[in-house]
Amino acid sequence: MKKSQAHPFAETLISWYKDHARDLPWRRTQDPYLIWLSEIILQQTRVVQGLPYFYTLSEAFPTVFDLAAADETTLFRLWQGLGYYSRARNLHKTAKFLVETRAGKFPNTYVELLQLPGVGPYTAAAIASFAFGEASPVVDGNVFRVLARYFGVETDILHASARKEFTSLAQELIPRSDPARFNQAIMEFGALLCSPAPNCVECPLITTCYAYRNSRIQDLPVKTKAKAQRIRHFKYVVIEQSGRLLVHQRHAKDIWQGLWEFFCVESTDLSEAINLYPFLSLIMPFALPLESPGIHVLSHQKIVSEAWLVRLPTNYTFELPDNYQWILSSEFEQLGKPVLLLNLITDNIALKEILEG
Ligand code: ADE
Repeated sequence: MKKSQAHPFAETLISWYKDHARDLPWRRTQDPYLIWLSEIILQQTRVVQGLPYFYTLSEAFPTVFDLAAADETTLFRLWQGLGYYSRARNLHKTAKFLVETRAGKFPNTYVELLQLPGVGPYTAAAIASFAFGEASPVVDGNVFRVLARYFGVETDILHASARKEFTSLAQELIPRSDPARFNQAIMEFGALLCSPAPNCVECPLITTCYAYRNSRIQDLPVKTKAKAQRIRHFKYVVIEQSGRLLVHQRHAKDIWQGLWEFFCVESTDLSEAINLYPFLSLIMPFALPLESPGIHVLSHQKIVSEAWLVRLPTNYTFELPDNYQWILSSEFEQLGKPVLLLNLITDNIALKEILEG
């Protein structure tokens, strides 16, 4: 295929778009400010949900100067309900930056747009193409889906290299004559026809679509399931006696290997923990509830913790649970501990005092 000729995929897509495009306000402008505003609103937000916010915000702040001059409370009030407030904060910060350092003028290339806070590869490509006609392909979830199905790309879209591969395929396809329309078209096609449950009967690309011809519609794009978040419940009982603490070092093939912690039972409720360790029934009447760090988030686990402090009289004896030992509080202070425990100690003066002696 000669460089000047559009790929048949692009031609069909654009011709479908001419007949089926929704009339959306950000498609009627080339103002980079309004396009930027719309794209930030549409991040993590569906078109129908974003539309009223686009009207309200573009009316309240018709130019980047108005947005830069806005007070944050007003902006946040108008943003209310859209969620992900970091987007509103970044919008404001970037508007001020553009007004202060560039007289309100947007950068006009993909590479420079990428430098703006809150502007990633997708948004930079959208602004560069819609406002400035640069042939920078947008690659979002819709585009991954359309390209993977039509061309039979088997790369896992959650894989780190996927964006590069799909961007370079889209770069081959995007016509230099009308990149903006191609970008709008492929997104619209992914949203309206080649959706997760696609409407193949209406599809103008059906005869040449790899996924359709090979019955792979449901398999493409390949997306490995994100590992499920495991929720665990830890009950900590900080047991102190005569300046010593009952502790153990975590050994098992589990989180926090080699780190030290207070007496801990993994259980959803305290009575179950007491059943597992009957000595607790004798000492829990002495326990004071501690301020708990709440939910501690790890990469694939969430730890929900509760904690108590028991200061035992000197002469009180009980059988030590397996793998636990007494250690001087000042020595425990020196040992490596999970962040959850450091937070527990920081949040509870009684614990700090015990550790500092
Ligand atoms: N989602 C994100 N950007 C969009 C756009 N420009 N048009 C429609 N849907 C979108």
